[in-house]
Amino acid sequence: MVATFPGDEALGSALLDLLPAEPCALSLRRFPDQESYVRVLAPVADREIVVSCTLVHPDPKLVPLYLLCRTLRQLGARRVLLATPYLPYMRQDRAFHPGEALSAQQLAGWISGFVDGLATVEPHLHRIARLDEIYTIPYVAVSAAAAIAGWLREQVARPLLVGPDAESRPWIEALAQHLGCASVVLHKIRHDDQHVEIALPDLPQQTDCTPVLVDDIISTGGTLRAAIQHLRSAGLAPPVCIGVHALFGREVEDALRSVGAARVVSCNSIAHPSNAIDIRPDLAAALRALLSRPR
Ligand code: R5P
Repeated sequence: MVATFPGDEALGSALLDLLPAEPCALSLRRFPDQESYVRVLAPVADREIVVSCTLVHPDPKLVPLYLLCRTLRQLGARRVLLATPYLPYMRQDRAFHPGEALSAQQLAGWISGFVDGLATVEPHLHRIARLDEIYTIPYVAVSAAAAIAGWLREQVARPLLVGPDAESRPWIEALAQHLGCASVVLHKIRHDDQHVEIALPDLPQQTDCTPVLVDDIISTGGTLRAAIQHLRSAGLAPPVCIGVHALFGREVEDALRSVGAARVVSCNSIAHPSNAIDIRPDLAAALRALLSRPR
């Protein structure tokens, strides 16, 4: 059964079709005092439940998610899997300043305590190399490379893949392998949330190519803005910008276009006007793989 969080109806109904599964009706709302009310409206004893909840802007969702998953277990569900195409808090993976929370680790410990498995898409892995360093439950981390490669094959004739920073190397290499095209990875220094500096290495001599910047997350747009400016001043064509997870607002897209982005598109891991690349079939396949493992 698929239990869908409010706001995740498109993902929930895609999973119902793709798995396939039956819906698990819920009532989730806020009490007048803003505490969470959670009620499971379907019989779930001995059923396997996928909770579809995209943890973008996660803080208000985490308490109802916790209450729901614990309740499903209390009602006898055999297994509770979390499908969150975007896995939050992964960027705060170390204490950059004394006293800072290790948010990635703390959240992973908490979530591992109340679900039996996790399916997600392209989690931000940098200083943490694999999710099982911090999550103690079975998981599948879907790569977005195949879906992005499929889109690029149809939309961009001669791509030159550009990764904005060292973290992007794994997915740039995976994509270059899918497409058999040239790639380059830039060097980024982040000064704070809003300010980044990018250094440009020697670019491949491919002047007739369309640069395609690929990042896992677009948030303030600072990373891509700096990268676009460098590519444009090096004489390259206006780049296509692809973000797996679209955490940005309209003003960020306008800013990217104003410095020279030809297009800004994203995967539908987070519902967003820029969505162009469908990762839901891959997420459903990941869930099927988790469900086929013995409990
Ligand atoms: C961080 O290293 C990520 O891979 C992204 O480059 C970063 O989160 C993008 O954030 P922003 O759009 O705020 O520069």
